Amino acid sequence: MQSYSALITGGAQGIGKAIAKALVDDGLHVVILDSAADAGDETVEELGGAAHATFIEGDAASEADVQHAVAIAAEHGKGLRAAVGNTGIMIRKPVTELTLEEWNRVLAVNLTAAFLLARHAAPQLAKHAGAMLLIASSRALMSEANTESYSASKGGIVALTHSLAISLGPSVRVNCISPGWIATDAWQFSARRHAPKLSSEDHAQHPAGRVGTPPDIGTLASFLLSDKAGFITGANYVVDGGMTRKMIYAE
Ligand SMILES: NC(=O)c1ccc[n+]([C@@H]2O[C@H](COP(=O)([O-])OP(=O)(O)OC[C@H]3O[C@@H](n4cnc5c(N)ncnc54)[C@H](O)[C@@H]3O)[C@@H](O)[C@H]2O)c1
Repeated sequence: MQSYSALITGGAQGIGKAIAKALVDDGLHVVILDSAADAGDETVEELGGAAHATFIEGDAASEADVQHAVAIAAEHGKGLRAAVGNTGIMIRKPVTELTLEEWNRVLAVNLTAAFLLARHAAPQLAKHAGAMLLIASSRALMSEANTESYSASKGGIVALTHSLAISLGPSVRVNCISPGWIATDAWQFSARRHAPKLSSEDHAQHPAGRVGTPPDIGTLASFLLSDKAGFITGANYVVDGGMTRKMIYAE
C-alpha cells in the first residue's frame, strides 16, 4: 500500500530522529535532510531501511538542498503530508565577541531553514491537507547569558509559526514545539552514542521530576501532524517538564 511522506530536517540524530521514528510508526515514509552522512545512513537502517525512510545529505539552510529534498519527498508514494523544521545549532559567546558571521549562521540554520522549508513544502502540503511542525525552544521565552543568537532565532520560530498558520490555513496547519532540556545522548550516531550522564539534581529540579527525552517530543509531534490535531494551528507547545512555570527567586 502506498504511504504519504514526511520531510524532517536534522532528522538523523537527537530530537529529529525521535520524531522520524514516531512518524514511521504512524505509517509515513520519512525523508531526512541532514548534514551528518554517517548518522543519516545509520538512522535509515534503524528505522527499517529504504522501505520506511530515505536519507538526503545536505544543508537545511541551503535553498537548493531544501528544494531537492522537498521534490524527493513529494515524489514518494501519495505525496508530502508532513514537514518538520528541526535543525538547530547554538553558539554560546558574549554578545561582544559573537561575530556577525556566527550570528548569521545560527539564524540561517535555526530560522531561515524553517522559512525555506515552508516556502518549498507548503504547495505540496496543501495538496494533501498536510501540516508543518517547527522546533523552537523554551529559550524563546527565557535565557541563560551569552545565547543571543540562539534565543533570537527561536523567538523567530514562534512568530514564524503563527504567521505561517494564518497565511497557509486552512489548507496547511502549522504549529511549533518549544522543548526544554532534552537529553539526546542516546539518540546520536552510534560512535557518539551513550547513556545520558544526569544527576539526581538534574532530574529533581523539574516539576515533572525528570529531564526530557527525545520521544517526549516525538509523541507530541506525531499528534500535531495527524488529523487528530485538526483544530490546532498557530500554537506553541512548551514541553519542558514545567521549568518555565517555576519561580526561581532565591529565598
Ligand atoms: N536538546 C535539547 O535540549 C533542545 C532543547 C530545546 C530545543 N532544541 C531544539 O531541537 C532541535 C533538535 O535539537 P537536538 O538537541 O536534537 O540536536 P542534535 O544536535 O542532537 O541533532 C541535530 C541534527 O541536525 C543536524 N543538523 C545540524 N545542522 C544542520 C544543517 N544545517 N542542515 C542539516 N542538518 C543539520 C545534525 O547533523 C543532527 O543530526 C534543534 O532545533 C534544537 O535547537 C533542543
